Amino acid sequence: MVESAVAPAFNVVAFAGSLRRGSYNRALLREAKELAPPTLHIVIHELDAIPLYNGDLEAAGAPPSVVQLRDAVRQSDALLIATPEYNHGVPGVLKNTIDWLSRPPRDNALNGKVAALIGASPGMTGTARGQAQLRQALGATNTYVLLQPEVLVARAPEKFDVDGRLTDQATRDVLATFLQRFIDLIALHVRAEARITA
Ligand code: FNR
Repeated sequence: MVESAVAPAFNVVAFAGSLRRGSYNRALLREAKELAPPTLHIVIHELDAIPLYNGDLEAAGAPPSVVQLRDAVRQSDALLIATPEYNHGVPGVLKNTIDWLSRPPRDNALNGKVAALIGASPGMTGTARGQAQLRQALGATNTYVLLQPEVLVARAPEKFDVDGRLTDQATRDVLATFLQRFIDLIALHVRAEARITA
């Protein structure tokens, strides 16, 4: 069989675990979207309208904001998540979103998806602990998370300018390599799925 020379485009749902207008993590997502090759189509979603998870709300029918995000995730090839670190862990906004997306457990939108994590913080560890905790939660949803390279943007105020542009060249280089590895992982996964369903 002759394989097509044209690389397929992959659709990626992206969100940041911060509602702050000047969020470094949303700025990092915007930068990833810009640096991404044309084969990676990244759409950034906002989490402001996602309510706190409540089993009663769910039983009455998931809220429209949750349904919209869940459908986007189902239709995507992968997720890109930018997480801040709050008190050495995942911010509630983000964990809450993962909790909603993990429902219903037998038809969980994250099941079998590919994901990649990035994060930025003013501190020295660049969200390492937040990302580790998020990775653990995504294990519960059977989501395949890219292992390396890690994008841990420490001392964020020195790496972004006042307009939220990532000006640090070393970080831009890591982000570009990361996006390439992300594409490789998605492609691998899509090929494996094609074999399974053939
Ligand atoms: C923080 N911050 C923080 N930073 C860090 O590196 N490790 C941490 O454990 C915490 N803990 C923490 C708790 C809470 C409640 C807040 C509000 C903040 C600082 C945090 O990294 C900083 O506010 C970032 O700018 C948040 O990300 P966004 O909003 O810029 O994307």
